[in-house]
Amino acid sequence: MDVRALIKKEVLGQKAYAVDLSDCPVKLDANENPHRLSPAAATVLHDALRDVALNRYPDPEARTLRDRLSALYGVPREMILAGNGSDELIQILLAVLRTGGEGGGVLLPVPTFAMYGITAVNMGHRVTEVPLDGDFDLPDGFAGRWVKGENPDIVFLAYPNNPTGNCFSRGKMEEILDAAKGFVVVDEAYGPFSGKTFLPEVERRENLIILRTFSKVGFAAIRLGVLIGSPVLLGELNKVRLPYNLNALTQAMGVRLLDHGEELDRQVLAIVKGREELFRELQKMEGIRPFPSDANFILFRCAYDKDRVYKGLLERGVLVKSFASPPVLRDCFRVSVGTEEENRAFVAALHDVVGTCR
Ligand SMILES: Cc1ncc(COP(=O)(O)O)c(C=O)c1O
Repeated sequence: MDVRALIKKEVLGQKAYAVDLSDCPVKLDANENPHRLSPAAATVLHDALRDVALNRYPDPEARTLRDRLSALYGVPREMILAGNGSDELIQILLAVLRTGGEGGGVLLPVPTFAMYGITAVNMGHRVTEVPLDGDFDLPDGFAGRWVKGENPDIVFLAYPNNPTGNCFSRGKMEEILDAAKGFVVVDEAYGPFSGKTFLPEVERRENLIILRTFSKVGFAAIRLGVLIGSPVLLGELNKVRLPYNLNALTQAMGVRLLDHGEELDRQVLAIVKGREELFRELQKMEGIRPFPSDANFILFRCAYDKDRVYKGLLERGVLVKSFASPPVLRDCFRVSVGTEEENRAFVAALHDVVGTCR
């Protein structure tokens, strides 16, 4: 039997999302928070898990967690959907969206977070990619796509953007929000590191959808993403969402970890400080050009043989993210901000490797 003959052509044409599984002491490739929780906070979280009834299905509506998130974000519970990471929420969103030439498709400024495009294609959407400008900002006239009648059904705006690290200019974002006749997803996965948000707008703009995640502030392992949007949209998303999408352990952890907001805020401040120091170090290096970042990572261009630099870093125990595409990123790496020690190890390793490439 030809198994592939039964598979959608869109899926056949894709490559699976590649994660580098190299076992490295200094892991700076995935925009994670390098800090663990204090032992006291970790004990409280682990204690919370003891009370979970493992023999029962989880609350299908994650009510306690959504109540806590509602207090945190200052929006009603009916506007909050919790998911198995924001990846799942992106998938649910694209699953409810009309396809098959009925609508205007999915609009993506590129480069941006890969999963928007991968998921959209898998779901049979037409994807239009528009290159960012030379400063990685939205190009002039981006909002014109609705004015001219192209009318994309949805646009994904990562704010700050991954992998470029910058927040698009607010004026251009607002132009889009005003012009769009479709959904505008503002993905604030890295929002805690920028201090900028569109959350206060969400109750008065029915087409605005905000995404948040706990992955970048220290909880990538528990897979907890949050979508904030209009109750009408959430009603539709709930028809597609699997009933028990958020397991009980994640729900219980999510509730408890919100009690440790101050500790997480301190970690975010340390990462922002580390980012500024790392940026200055990279700026000093010949042949290396870092781009300003509002996130917990820095994109940098490298004038040397990219494979050699990547392998040289790996040999010295440092893993960073390397990009093969799109062309604008071909000579770029992205490094997550680590602990002070990890940042020092990365800078020393890069110095060393660059020295061998000159
Ligand atoms: C912009 C952006 N959104 C969403 C995600 C995925 O987050 P999660 O771990 O919640 O699925 C990432 C992860 O890298 C990201 O960069």
